[in-house]
Amino acid sequence: MAGGTGSRLSPLTNVTNKHLLPVYDEPMIYKVIRTLTNSGISDITIVLGGESVGDFIRLLGDGSEFQAHFNYVYQQRAGGIAEALFLTRKIIEGNKVAVILGDNIFEDSFDSELYEFKNSTDFECYLFLKEVEDPERFGVAELNEDGTIKSIEEKPKSPKTNYAVTGLYFYDENIFNVIKKVNKEIGYSKRDELEITDVNNYYIKNGKTKSVIIKGFWSDAGKFDTLLKSSNFIKSQKINKVK
Ligand code: DAU
Repeated sequence: MAGGTGSRLSPLTNVTNKHLLPVYDEPMIYKVIRTLTNSGISDITIVLGGESVGDFIRLLGDGSEFQAHFNYVYQQRAGGIAEALFLTRKIIEGNKVAVILGDNIFEDSFDSELYEFKNSTDFECYLFLKEVEDPERFGVAELNEDGTIKSIEEKPKSPKTNYAVTGLYFYDENIFNVIKKVNKEIGYSKRDELEITDVNNYYIKNGKTKSVIIKGFWSDAGKFDTLLKSSNFIKSQKINKVK
């Protein structure tokens, strides 16, 4: 998902798109695409927004540089992550889907979870959690005693736990019906977005959702300090590889 405005990074994003900004040695979107390809995904639909669409296409092309195939969809305004996902339905409908937010930098890849999800009839949705110091910036998961998710609150003032819901989601073939239901029953939020958290809460309430606590580094690189933190992390990894 690479729509949205990136306004938290102005003036860096005044003449370009957040996902094209560097995370150490590469554009942010490269790292995000690699999380998918390293997990075994090669059929990728990229949702774009704003004014830099030509730059994305010149940079990414058809995906062959990543041994992948890319489709592009355009979101007219930042109407939310669930809205952006809904715009892909003509391409994805009838399949399970892994969704990743274009500013989420993960150290891990998720091939075993993906294999499990693809072959499972037990779970309809996988969510990936990470313990953080500033949960109020994220969707925050409240957990049951057995570790399953009770519910998620979007950017709560008083978070019930430190578990942020990261921007990686696996959904079953029913996802577009769920988004339609959320749109009908809940609609757009106060910030005028169709919220992915409402979609996730629908799955938690009505279906079988698995939560996975991720082990490696994770950052939402959408702010100055987290952009820097992400760059520093990638740099440290490269240095460790050379040693
Ligand atoms: O990073 C994880 C967090 O991402 C979650 O914990 C939250 O539950 C989730 O709502 C989301 O929160 P943010 O407020 O950080 O989302 P943001 O508006 O920054 O959007 C994240 C990415 O999604 C962004 O890089 C581009 C894409 N996006 C966003 C919007 C609003 C779209 O493609 N279209 C959109 O309309």
